Amino acid sequence: MNGEPGDSEAGDQQREAVREDWAGRALHWDRHADMVAEPAERLNQPLIEAADIQPGQTILDIATGSGEPGLTVAKLVGANGHLTMSDMVPEMIAGAERRANDLGLTNIDYMIADMADLPPDANLYDRVISRFGLMFCPNKKKAVSEAFRVLKPGGRATWMVWGPKSNNSSFAVIDGAAKKIFGTDNPKLEFDLPFSLSENGALETLLRDAGFETEGEQDIKLHPKLPTDRPFWSAMVDMAVGRPRDAATEGDRAAFDREVEARFGDLIKDGRYHIDMHARICSGVKLA
Ligand SMILES: C[S@@+](CC[C@H](N)C(=O)[O-])C[C@H]1O[C@@H](n2cnc3c(N)ncnc32)[C@H](O)[C@@H]1O
Repeated sequence: MNGEPGDSEAGDQQREAVREDWAGRALHWDRHADMVAEPAERLNQPLIEAADIQPGQTILDIATGSGEPGLTVAKLVGANGHLTMSDMVPEMIAGAERRANDLGLTNIDYMIADMADLPPDANLYDRVISRFGLMFCPNKKKAVSEAFRVLKPGGRATWMVWGPKSNNSSFAVIDGAAKKIFGTDNPKLEFDLPFSLSENGALETLLRDAGFETEGEQDIKLHPKLPTDRPFWSAMVDMAVGRPRDAATEGDRAAFDREVEARFGDLIKDGRYHIDMHARICSGVKLA
């Protein structure tokens, strides 16, 4: 125990709530995962570059969800390398396994594990990577220490987290519309946890405290301009709030859809949606 909030009863409750939430979202994610694979690459690539992934390496992808960025990494490390995809929620990792099988990837194994409590063997991996998972963990310090422990000496861990919600326009729109129509007390809506490491330097501090050698955080800011001939946000809405939307009355569902469309409409300039995205990356090396 290291005295983090995550080690308390409240931490246990948060962990169970997160587990239940993601188990319930798994089908919503799986049905869109292949379709959003291409835009996902825009965020995978800087993470993969920062992690310095090379053929033949042994990699652990933590909180892999439906398989990002693991599936791209499995192709990169090739037949002489190996990827372990891990997630706390079996329903989520089932989607990653389905996608890996569809792609014919055979250099992967699957591990159900809380990132703050990995299996006991140490010094296993050349690289640990994780995209958009650490924010959900109630004991983040323990999770980063676990990554340190399972890395080989000289290995590198690379984490990607969201920057502030206000710099991520799609989240801000969906969040605002959901809170307005479904209410702020809906337990299925969690729009603050994904931004719990959005403050500049928060991620690097966690890595340094765990013993990693770091070289600062990298800001990834993307500004896609998207055509207005189709609602590009449908998949995002379903992945983010598909459950409460499904559970809402028909009237609330229609009101929510109108609200989302109107709020995205406010982002149209010169006939295109102007979207802002902001993520942060930090790598840490476990000195040999
Ligand atoms: C936003 S999804 C990210 C999935 C994928 N990496 C991506 O970027 O698309 C968050 C994932 O974190 C997983 N997760 C949440 N808390 C976790 C924990 N304590 N240990 C392991 N996985 C966790 C969830 O089950 C979910 O699959």
